[in-house]
Amino acid sequence: MRTPLIAGNWKLNKTIDEAVAFVNELKPLVADTAGVEILLCPVFTALAATARAAQGTNIQVGGQNLYWKDSGAYTGEVSAPLLLDAGCTHVIIGHSERRGRFGVPEPDLAGDAGRVFGDTDAAVNRKLHAALQHGLVPIVCVGETLGERNDGNTDTIVQNQTRAALEGVEAAQATGLVLAYEPVWAIGTGQTCESDEADRVCGVIRVTVGELYGQAAAEAVRIQYGGSCKPDNAADLLGRPNIDGALVGGASLKADSFAQIIRAAKA
Ligand code: PGA
Repeated sequence: MRTPLIAGNWKLNKTIDEAVAFVNELKPLVADTAGVEILLCPVFTALAATARAAQGTNIQVGGQNLYWKDSGAYTGEVSAPLLLDAGCTHVIIGHSERRGRFGVPEPDLAGDAGRVFGDTDAAVNRKLHAALQHGLVPIVCVGETLGERNDGNTDTIVQNQTRAALEGVEAAQATGLVLAYEPVWAIGTGQTCESDEADRVCGVIRVTVGELYGQAAAEAVRIQYGGSCKPDNAADLLGRPNIDGALVGGASLKADSFAQIIRAAKA
């Protein structure tokens, strides 16, 4: 059985004090949730304080991004060793807000807003290798825009993004990583992907992992759903056979709603 992973992606939200207060509020709400892994991904500046506040609890801390070089003349970047130094165990890689279809930001593309920072598939792949090399658990995000879905390209997009992200990754490493199916049109819109469809696409990703690494890896790898996951739809999504957790944005910003999602995974 795969242990569900419920991860809160705080994006560009919360000061250090707010992050620490959140951990203190969340702790008692999730103290009895054995069998579910809990992760918080604050902004870089709040990572160390959040990790300290979470020490000795069942709450883990992850970065929202990283650069693949360990150190050097890379202004504005953060590396895997520095995430580890701050107390991280995980890192989100290739979130749609970090990607860009043409390697350039496309925040204004009508209907497809959401890929902002221009990460290419090749950059996602390098970041994944850096995370694995340093022992961070990567959460690799894949997902289609509304335009790509309307064109009937959903499966091709997630298959291609999965294959590109995993290029050069060994089978032994692949079983430990986490993939997240995040349809871009469902992120921050309140428009959740219907659970049957979310499960189906997670299944497509699982089959892709199986094609690359075999049946055992496909069964071991965890695949989250993300995109307007909330307390009122979490149980339905998390009850599906191919969905092994959630990557939660907006609903992870309040301790009580995030705790409800965690409890839905336990049920
Ligand atoms: P959302 O974000 O839950 O606010 O839609 C999910 C994500 O971007 O990971």
